[in-house]
Amino acid sequence: MNRYVLVTGGAGYIGSHTVVALHQQGFVPVLVDDFRNANAIVLDGLEFILGQQPIVHRIDVCDKIALSTLFEQYAFDGVIHFAAYKAVGESVEQPLAYYHNNLVCLINVLSLLEQYQVPNFVFSSSCTVYGEPKGAKEVSEQTPKQLPESPYGYTKWMGEQIIADFYKSASHLKLMNLRYFNPVGAHPSARIGEFPIGKPNNLLPFVTQTAIGKQAKLTVFGNDYPTRDGSCIRDYIHVVDLAEAHVAALTFLADQKEGLLEAVNIGTGRGTSVLEIVEAFERSTNQSLPFEIGPRRAGDVIEIYANVQKGQDLLGWKARLSIEDAIRDAWAWEQFLATL
Ligand code: WQD
Repeated sequence: MNRYVLVTGGAGYIGSHTVVALHQQGFVPVLVDDFRNANAIVLDGLEFILGQQPIVHRIDVCDKIALSTLFEQYAFDGVIHFAAYKAVGESVEQPLAYYHNNLVCLINVLSLLEQYQVPNFVFSSSCTVYGEPKGAKEVSEQTPKQLPESPYGYTKWMGEQIIADFYKSASHLKLMNLRYFNPVGAHPSARIGEFPIGKPNNLLPFVTQTAIGKQAKLTVFGNDYPTRDGSCIRDYIHVVDLAEAHVAALTFLADQKEGLLEAVNIGTGRGTSVLEIVEAFERSTNQSLPFEIGPRRAGDVIEIYANVQKGQDLLGWKARLSIEDAIRDAWAWEQFLATL
């Protein structure tokens, strides 16, 4: 009996790694993506890793009628919903595009979930719902959510609110919000990875592009913060660990007899500063990294990292890869891209 799982945004960075993890654990991932924010090269990489072509449907998740044809075609065990825009800075410039795309896609998926009685749903949420931690920098799922700093953050914050209200009307369903911290790295095969369109917003792809010569210099956005070395601190989690957390979440939901709604932090439980990432990159790759200290970036949280106890207790999941693993894999992926 095939255990089909719909992966919306499955051609994206985290989505594609989750397609691999699902396949490796006996599920049949059905990848849906309109490729507006993904490159078709990911399909070659998935075929290389899986040893077969993944099931792919080129559909805009905002097109409910088109999306519903998949629910007619497959008896899904569950849905993992990634399809969304995710650049914090871009969301400030294009708020309406972010609210429309991120919220309409989510609402379409939830309404089809109910219409076709698909029992299990995992939502790609974010630590951005915590904002700047007021007290301890280690946040648990009980840490009060704060109003986000960007339209992107609001789409995650509102997304969780929509799911909470939806659950009240459909409490037989089993729903989970996974709050990611900072996904980094690439698959160890170096055939899938992060594929920033244009200049990278995020730290590690900017680091690897600088090291390979695509960018002239890394700017560290501020070293005068109240942290151990003055630069911001984040919880960087290897994307392979993150992908496996999704399968652990889906497996947990499938095992439950009653409806539920849970939020779980997906991080390593460790904070790393920007300057520590720079040092770790140079040490792990023997590549020199030209960088300068620049002004702070508006909206940056100073320090945040995950309390990961709930993921261990509820899902039996714990991150197992290190920052050095992520840097090694991100660098190998950047070098592979340079051969294309
Ligand atoms: C990390 C640190 C920057 C680039 C991300 C995603 C967001 C959400 C949370 C999932 C910051 C510094 C960066 C550069 C730098 N993830 N930096 N120079 O802002 O934590 O947000 O994770 O939903 O979608 O965007 O990640 O990688 O942009 O920044 O100094 O060229 O690196 O100031 O301190 P961020 P980031």
